Amino acid sequence: MIFTVAIDGPAAAGKGTIARAVAARFGFAHLDTGLLYRAVGALGGDPVLAARGLVPDDLAREDLRSLAAGQAASRVAVIPEVRAALTDFQRRFARAEGGAVLDGRDIGTVICPEAEVKLYVTASAQVRAHRRWLELGGDAAQVLAEVVERDKRDSERATAPLKPAADALVLDTSDMGIEQAVARAIATVEERL
Ligand code: C5P
Repeated sequence: MIFTVAIDGPAAAGKGTIARAVAARFGFAHLDTGLLYRAVGALGGDPVLAARGLVPDDLAREDLRSLAAGQAASRVAVIPEVRAALTDFQRRFARAEGGAVLDGRDIGTVICPEAEVKLYVTASAQVRAHRRWLELGGDAAQVLAEVVERDKRDSERATAPLKPAADALVLDTSDMGIEQAVARAIATVEERL
């Protein structure tokens, strides 16, 4: 069976949690596409060459979850050649036999417009920054500033900007909480399977 669940949205909206829960529930493979951009940013050097030469070990680096790695990722993610170098791998993953969940910024709009289920997971910047701060610590005001800066860069770039696909179901997790969002996501996949 070929079945793709595309989950997009801004930083710390709950995409990863929802993606993992959906993948576990249906036995689908899961790809956190942010990790690809984080790895390219962390490798340093020429980002286009880094993206073209990316290997699985690059995704297992320890420092990829930090705020700094997120910022570096969003800076290399504006480069069209970087995005192009990562496209085929993501498309093959999305349409591989057995079902797949991909979370990122452009999965429903660019990588897999034919996805059977598209979710756009969002929350207020304050709620998202608070979640990131609980996870990573540090200075709360700085965490908020970095989240806002990264979302602005991701939304305003010319190539594959962050935005909901026209046919995406929007889940705002500001008030509903992550468990309810997971339940909505699972129910949506069940309807279309
Ligand atoms: O999702 P995560 O926070 O790990 O993503 C890090 C950065 O990678 C994002 O801020 C964005 O700039 C970039 N990204 C992207 N397209 C994706 C996934 C991530 O541009 N599909």
